[in-house]
Amino acid sequence: MSARIKIFDTTLRDGEQTPGVSLNIQEKLEIARQLARLGVDIIEAGFAISSPGDFMAVKTVAENVKGPVIASLARAVEKDIDRAWEALQNAENPRIHTFIATSDIHMKYKLKMTEDQVLERAVAMVKYAKKYCSDVEFSAEDASRTRTGFLYRVLEEVIKAGATVVNIPDTVGYSMPDEFGSLIKGIKENVRGIEKVDISVHCHNDLGLAVANSLAAIMNGATQVECTINGLGERAGNASMEEIIMGIQTRKDFYGGLKHNINTRQIYRTSKLVSKLTGVHLQPNKAIVGKNAFAHESGIHQHGVLAERSTYEIMTPESIGLTTNRIVLGKLSGRHAFEERLKEMGYNLSPEELTKAFEKFKDLADKKKNVTDRDIEALIGEKVSEVEEVYRLDSFQINSGNKVIAMATVSMFKNDELLTEAATGDGPISAAFRAIERTVGFEVHLEDYSLKGVTEGADALGEATVRVRKDNRIYVGRGVSTDVIEASVKAYINAINRIIHDHGKDTSGGRETI
Ligand code: KIV
Ligand code: ZN
Repeated sequence: MSARIKIFDTTLRDGEQTPGVSLNIQEKLEIARQLARLGVDIIEAGFAISSPGDFMAVKTVAENVKGPVIASLARAVEKDIDRAWEALQNAENPRIHTFIATSDIHMKYKLKMTEDQVLERAVAMVKYAKKYCSDVEFSAEDASRTRTGFLYRVLEEVIKAGATVVNIPDTVGYSMPDEFGSLIKGIKENVRGIEKVDISVHCHNDLGLAVANSLAAIMNGATQVECTINGLGERAGNASMEEIIMGIQTRKDFYGGLKHNINTRQIYRTSKLVSKLTGVHLQPNKAIVGKNAFAHESGIHQHGVLAERSTYEIMTPESIGLTTNRIVLGKLSGRHAFEERLKEMGYNLSPEELTKAFEKFKDLADKKKNVTDRDIEALIGEKVSEVEEVYRLDSFQINSGNKVIAMATVSMFKNDELLTEAATGDGPISAAFRAIERTVGFEVHLEDYSLKGVTEGADALGEATVRVRKDNRIYVGRGVSTDVIEASVKAYINAINRIIHDHGKDTSGGRETI
């Protein structure tokens, strides 16, 4: 086992391939900055050739995020590598990540290439990428279903051609932990030159084994692990970063004190940010970052934890940066107390952001007696650093019931002009959404709508998330309020503002993914 494991985060590339997820450039930049704070070693910022939006996202992250290596994916073809380099060239530490499939199934049905052709292409493209960039990662797609002899041959040749990292993906999440561990061991023992490069793994979660396979690979010599925040990714997703890291951290004894660069106290915040911007909620029992991950329901467990935390807690909530949900502020709290609490929670807002956040806090404190950390998080996460509010909610009125047709009147400011529209719908929310569409003059397709309570109690904040489709792109909107209809209306307006913000700037339309 190596002394330190490198974390290659692919939330912005494979994670964005999660069905229904689409992030704009600002959102990707915000996530990349948080990943840098978290301490990841490599950020895969996108797949530059797949769309103009992806290209700009890789370029923006490359030019603005310092510290981690910034990578772009590229198929093993010259035009992909050219485009990846065009996006990466101003990065402090750029990496071109090129890949080609090596399994019989992929070579025969997808690539229609022979082994020799694939080998020749892999070597040629690593050499081609090397002309631009000293750091080149090569991935043998579907490695876990590749004939071992051929895999060794490909890896040996790409190392000779100059690859600095060889990645072994379990592309379809097919491997079992012992089997995958042995694959890595075999590569380490049989591939000439392997000691000069990093051995990376990239596991998918189709059988729920992505984290187990990644950990087995680490035990057998992998020096880099590819993963995503919250386990996002194609189909059932990728290995979850927080689970891998907390596994290594909590079981230092088992992993021989294996080091990593992650500041675990930033895990919770990163997970929240990614969930907010992608609109993908976490299952409550998700390991490490789920709502129940540190909740003790049974009386016996509660009693045990009160007597001695380690009876039922193998790690502390604080170790992932979870603040306890203690009552902090109320109606009479001033700006200074609010700012101090934000700092304690790890937020550093600009004076303008602070002013906006404080206004929201005051509004909330008028409606809700005790404002908790979770409420503050929801308020901060709502909109403080997001897109310009071209449309802003002024007021709404709803008439609905079980024997009447729902009707909504919504008034919004468009800059300084107050606009009012009314509409009917199947229910109060759909009527309000139709009224908003009338005002803005275009329709969107509602793909998903969800509502959840931020805290417990009748005066709890409700958090609404909408996912809408416009011109083949997905936009997420979010709104919070103690009134669930208001939260929903705000979420819809937030999504509309995002559409307006992106319109004309990103002509990507549909994007090519792998
Ligand atoms: O799953 C996979 O094989 C990939 C590669 C491109 C690394 O995402
Ligand atoms: Zn993948």
